[in-house]
Amino acid sequence: MPQPALNPHKQRAAELVARMSIEEQALLLSGDGPWRTHGIERLGIPPVVVSDGPHGLRKLEDSGALMNRSVPATCFPTASALSATWNTALTRELGAALGREAQAQKVDVLLGPGVNIKRSPLGGRNFEYFSEDPLLAGSIAAAYINGVQSEGVGTSLKHFAANSQEDARMTTDSVVDARTLNEIYLPAFEQAVRESQPWTVMSAYNLVNGTYASEHRALLDGVLRGQWGFDGLVVSDWGGINDRAKGVEAGNDLEMPGSGEHNRNKLIAAVREGRLAKEALARCATEVVALALRAAEARKANAQFDADAHHALARRIGGEAVVLLKNEGDVLPLPAGKKVALIGRFARTPRFQGAGSSMVNPIRITNAYDELAALLGEQQLSYAAAYDGEGDTTDAQIEEAVRTAAAADIAVVFAGLPDSYESEGWDRRNIAMPAGHVRLIEAVAAVQSKVVVVLLNGSAVEMPWAGKVKGIVEGWLGGQAGGGALADVLSGKVNPSGKLAETFPVALKDSPAHPYFPSHTRSAVYGEGVFVGYRHFDAREITPLFPFGFGLSYTRFAYTGIRAAAQFDASGDDSFTVEVSIKNVGPRVGQEVVQLYVHEEAPALPRPPQELRAFDKVTLEPGQEKTVRLTLRRRDFAYYDAQAQAWTVKPGRFEIRVGGSSRDLPLTLPLEVTNTRKVAKRLTLHSVPRELKELAGGAALYSEVLAALGFANADAPISDSQGTPDEVAAARKAQMSLLSFVDEMPLVKVPAFSQGRMTDARLEEILLRQSQG
Ligand code: BGC
Repeated sequence: MPQPALNPHKQRAAELVARMSIEEQALLLSGDGPWRTHGIERLGIPPVVVSDGPHGLRKLEDSGALMNRSVPATCFPTASALSATWNTALTRELGAALGREAQAQKVDVLLGPGVNIKRSPLGGRNFEYFSEDPLLAGSIAAAYINGVQSEGVGTSLKHFAANSQEDARMTTDSVVDARTLNEIYLPAFEQAVRESQPWTVMSAYNLVNGTYASEHRALLDGVLRGQWGFDGLVVSDWGGINDRAKGVEAGNDLEMPGSGEHNRNKLIAAVREGRLAKEALARCATEVVALALRAAEARKANAQFDADAHHALARRIGGEAVVLLKNEGDVLPLPAGKKVALIGRFARTPRFQGAGSSMVNPIRITNAYDELAALLGEQQLSYAAAYDGEGDTTDAQIEEAVRTAAAADIAVVFAGLPDSYESEGWDRRNIAMPAGHVRLIEAVAAVQSKVVVVLLNGSAVEMPWAGKVKGIVEGWLGGQAGGGALADVLSGKVNPSGKLAETFPVALKDSPAHPYFPSHTRSAVYGEGVFVGYRHFDAREITPLFPFGFGLSYTRFAYTGIRAAAQFDASGDDSFTVEVSIKNVGPRVGQEVVQLYVHEEAPALPRPPQELRAFDKVTLEPGQEKTVRLTLRRRDFAYYDAQAQAWTVKPGRFEIRVGGSSRDLPLTLPLEVTNTRKVAKRLTLHSVPRELKELAGGAALYSEVLAALGFANADAPISDSQGTPDEVAAARKAQMSLLSFVDEMPLVKVPAFSQGRMTDARLEEILLRQSQG
């Protein structure tokens, strides 16, 4: 993987900032209105123009207003559709197209992608996020960012971090343990930073474990910049600043929208009064200037884009995003020469994007009716609207729909979620579709044996009617070309290859954070820990409606072989390659997403039964066989050891599982993983003697503690010859209970318990020596 480019203007920016007054520096740290930064003319520093995305440009016509109509732009499928393509090359193409549109509209930074993990199917912004799985989310995000930035336009990776709830989004404290944060909620950000260096990262509205994300030094300075090497600017979410000076100290460079003199004066006063280091101010100002210089250099004069080509790309992405969930008796693709009834308003007035800051003013909109008419001939089609914009229906509408469906050879019912059901700003209350849609599907299925349901929705829905229909097509919010994309798949012009990037539960009660999501107290406790998405369904052995990674094709694939070494040494930075053979054994050319999951046989901590660690999408002609190479690294076997604050691999047996869905993994391979790398544990006064034993050379220290407590040699093995069998058994039992007491006593208590035999000073010395060596 080539290293992504860093900002080459840092040095020059620092020089310019050194020539600025405190007032000028403070000016830079807050926006000039909602969509641009301040420039400083006397030093030749231009403003930077930012604009929402993420699935299309939302440049507002009047840059003074927060919410008004935006300039027409290509509306691509939303994030939940994009991630269902599992196609990073295609995602990069999308990014480049967005970059071209941004250049043409003189936008320097596109405010996306959003990479937050879907903790619950109720998440109001799930349509705008990629996945419940960090690897998939991180891979799509990195490809997107690399695409946009290849056109000289920056991105804003958002919302950092643990921002998975919309209700009370500005005040909720995400209470999440360190392991869960590191294993689930941070890795997509980390991968995107390491693989694509977004020009900016947007801090989230919420608090993380008691501290606002916008002023979270450990996250912004420690993790993002320190551990991952993030090289760009941190911007607040819009209105996400709490205490500006604290934000500056933490490394939050830019406040958006601008707060005029309000925070500027506070910052100036804080520096003057010595409450805020002037270096901190200068550091933030340097990032703003470096971004401005970078953006200015990357601007392309007279940039234009080809709206037709972008529409065609949107259609291609929409087609690849479609997930074929059910296709009993090969009811799809639609057979030639048959009469097709298109039922449901969405067939002509589709829902194609979500609401909130991502809402694009599309250049044009296509619908499935017109596009199918173009492909199949309009005389083949009939139509009944059946419901209104809210999904409500009347008896007369249902009767008309039933008549239309019965008169055709096959009925395609368009249903899903109306606009009011999902939006930025609030979470859903349930995963039901409107009652009118359900009633419609059931009524049509009662008179027509061939029913296909096409769903337009941004996130998972329940489908109590699923057993009554032959086909189910998940069309997502497919963007302005979504109608054409659906027509392509329904007609068979495109062979579906999308796979679910989120689990569809049978019922809400089966989902991971139920019933705690959304939290209606200030603290949102992430009580399900690492068991999010399929990790939860697998661990609890709950059968989902449709599992993570699932999606059918009009052809069939056979997983024919798997090869890899039987052992992997995870001590160093070596990688490990798995070769998978896959064959198209069906009648059509098609694409398959090869998914690799890792299972650990006897983990040190409760672990998800399997986790996605690699994937690739391949195209296969009928009869063609290919070998896919998937790479694993140390981290793919590791868990996050919260106490050691490090990724740890427990040596032992693992299993590699490969297939076309998380619940269909026909290829398995045992793997012995070795590891001699010792994690340097940081012991504290609140560590326990058991942990001393786990240190290299810790046995002597442990014995010293035992002796101080008056139990010298109490851990010596008791042999059978030390007494009668009953006496030995009793002695061993007593030993176990003594050691279980001693081993778990916090070290801080040892001096008192030893009545001074171990002094406080000696204890400090032991801890100091351990932390140094
Ligand atoms: C959203 C961001 C968005 C920003 C600017 C906020 O309310 O959370 O995702 O980029 O507004 O519109």
